[in-house]
Amino acid sequence: MPKIVAANWKMNLRRQSACELVSALKAEGRKCWLFPAFPLLGPVADTLIGGGLRLGAQDVSPEPDGAFTGDVSAEMLVDAGCELVLVGHSERRKQHGELGDLLARKLKRAAEGGLETVYCVGETLNQRKAGKAREVVKEHLSTLQGARKVAAVAYEPVWAIGTGETATPAQAEEMHAFIRGELKTLGLDVPILYGGSVKPGNARELLAQAHVDGVLVGGASLKLESLRAIDEAALES
Ligand code: PGA
Repeated sequence: MPKIVAANWKMNLRRQSACELVSALKAEGRKCWLFPAFPLLGPVADTLIGGGLRLGAQDVSPEPDGAFTGDVSAEMLVDAGCELVLVGHSERRKQHGELGDLLARKLKRAAEGGLETVYCVGETLNQRKAGKAREVVKEHLSTLQGARKVAAVAYEPVWAIGTGETATPAQAEEMHAFIRGELKTLGLDVPILYGGSVKPGNARELLAQAHVDGVLVGGASLKLESLRAIDEAALES
């Protein structure tokens, strides 16, 4: 199975820069998964039609359509052209206090509404230093109990996100192998992506690991040159 390159654009880009990037990726025949901010979903969806790119949102409401000011339902995301959604990203866990219960509801709603999920897990630096990395990741994974339509799990050690610090290929491989075993006990056989300061200079080594089925890229996915280089590394691994 080809390795996956997923681009988490977070709260970046504008209609023009996003569409230019998507047009270029499409012209090059790339098959990445793209996660733009909500206002960019429509224009990006229109731009990527007919190519091999897949569109995803960065968040989904745990509720169906109704009186939920500021929220966006799974059905709306599908209507906007999304197939995928991120759930459990550490920035939402930390900045919005999203915990297991809420995340389980989001996973359920996403599936009911027709979306596949990329579910993110990962420990903080303090948790790693305390020898609790596996325990934390296992706890995050337990939210997947009974989940349907999981497209991938992303291991994103919090200490490596946006910091320039990357897990070593050996650290990533070790945790991915652990996650693989945990997913098996949950009855899930899905790709496991690595995320956290992935860039052209380290992508090849990370993607060479047997249990690293792809990468979830933040900062380095905002520019064509770096995203292309990472995608080339994925195609060759
Ligand atoms: P980063 O972000 O590549 O900028 O570290 C990864 C992510 O948060 O998905």
